[in-house]
Amino acid sequence: VVDIRKFYADTGMFTYDPGFTSTASCDSGLTYIDGGEGVLLHRGYPIGQLAEQSSFMEVAYLLLNKELPNKDELDKFIWTITRHTMVHEQLATFFRGFRRDAHPMAIMCGAVGAMSAFYHDSTDITDPQQRMIASHRLIAKMPTIAAMAYKYSIGQPFLYPDNDLSYTGNFLRMTFGVPAEKYEVDPVVEKALDRIFILHADHEQNASTSTVRLAGSSGANPFACIAAGIACLWGPAHGGANEAALNMLREIGTPERIPEYIARAKNKDDPFRLMGFGHRVYKNYDPRATVMQQTVREVFKAMNVKDPVFDVALQLEEIALNDDYFVEKKLFPNVDFYSGVVLSAIGFPTAMFTALFALARTVGWVAQWNEMISDPAQKIGRPRQLYTGPTQRDYVPLDKR
Ligand code: ACO
Repeated sequence: VVDIRKFYADTGMFTYDPGFTSTASCDSGLTYIDGGEGVLLHRGYPIGQLAEQSSFMEVAYLLLNKELPNKDELDKFIWTITRHTMVHEQLATFFRGFRRDAHPMAIMCGAVGAMSAFYHDSTDITDPQQRMIASHRLIAKMPTIAAMAYKYSIGQPFLYPDNDLSYTGNFLRMTFGVPAEKYEVDPVVEKALDRIFILHADHEQNASTSTVRLAGSSGANPFACIAAGIACLWGPAHGGANEAALNMLREIGTPERIPEYIARAKNKDDPFRLMGFGHRVYKNYDPRATVMQQTVREVFKAMNVKDPVFDVALQLEEIALNDDYFVEKKLFPNVDFYSGVVLSAIGFPTAMFTALFALARTVGWVAQWNEMISDPAQKIGRPRQLYTGPTQRDYVPLDKR
């Protein structure tokens, strides 16, 4: 125990909490998690009910506006989002500056950050209406940008949005359609992807959301703040875990090799971790993983797909959940464990998985950012530190060192 008062004369009570494991950085009315019980509620509604009965647009409205919309409100919201799906034509030029093989998350960070240049003068964050327009723009343009990142990486022309399609159908067409052919949206895939977006829409003060809040607390442009969130989400300990989880499952390849990987995950001298397992908050089954596993089954059945990777995932889960190490440490599958399996079956390359997560999480980011800015108690985020460097000493000239 260090008595930090000898270092800091300017403070009274001071907490040292690396990783913020037990420090609330804000109050929020958006999302409730009970990690012990495996409960996730958005504005009070259980995630399972929203995933089953709602739509991504409805959940976006709920997170932004506090209540579920009635039919007119939902129609108006969808119309508004649809009107903002186009990106400025100059943004396409911006894409061409990236290496052809750039990771889509690198492109997303850059392109979304660049949008701040297009809306610099029109985003007065003290005006709630302008904040809402910026939020709508971000939600609407993210699928266009994610699809452009994909098209760019495979050398195909960008497709303009088709506003007769749903939010998710439009994204599927911009990603997998080609200008010369008519693209038919598969309703099963559209429903499954919409549900995946719902599962990723918000998750209270996770690393990327906290990043967006911290960036936004200085009054920065919202497009730049969301770019910061995308950067944070990219890491393999956060949104990048879905990509890492599928790569791991493919590397395992057959159920016979599972014990070898379980042993590696338990070995303290091996940095390997079971990707898609464990969570800072959930010490029980992640309720999103339950829905995700069900979604894999539905998509596989409807598309008549059989991927041995799913069998590996199911058996790995079964073995881990009966292993003392994972039981004691309360390590369960998280949302990322099964999401890669289903996204791959739909046809997305692994590099796009985290970009899809960013697309969906944009809803949570903008809702959290709005909540923060409209809070009269809001202050610039400014964590303190526990200084461990040398105490004061005199400068030594170069010729004396
Ligand atoms: N495999 C093996 N051991 C693990 C795993 C894992 N996936 N996760 C945690 N542990 C062990 C740690 O080694 C540690 O053991 P110790 O106490 O003996 O040192 C203990 O469990 C606690 O782990 P921490 O890293 O301290 O827990 P923290 O809450 O900081 O980390 C995290 C949570 C980052 C999610 C971690 O479980 C992990 O790295 N999981 C794999 C990556 C992953 O799936 N990330 C996605 C998170 S969900 C999301 O972002 C949508």
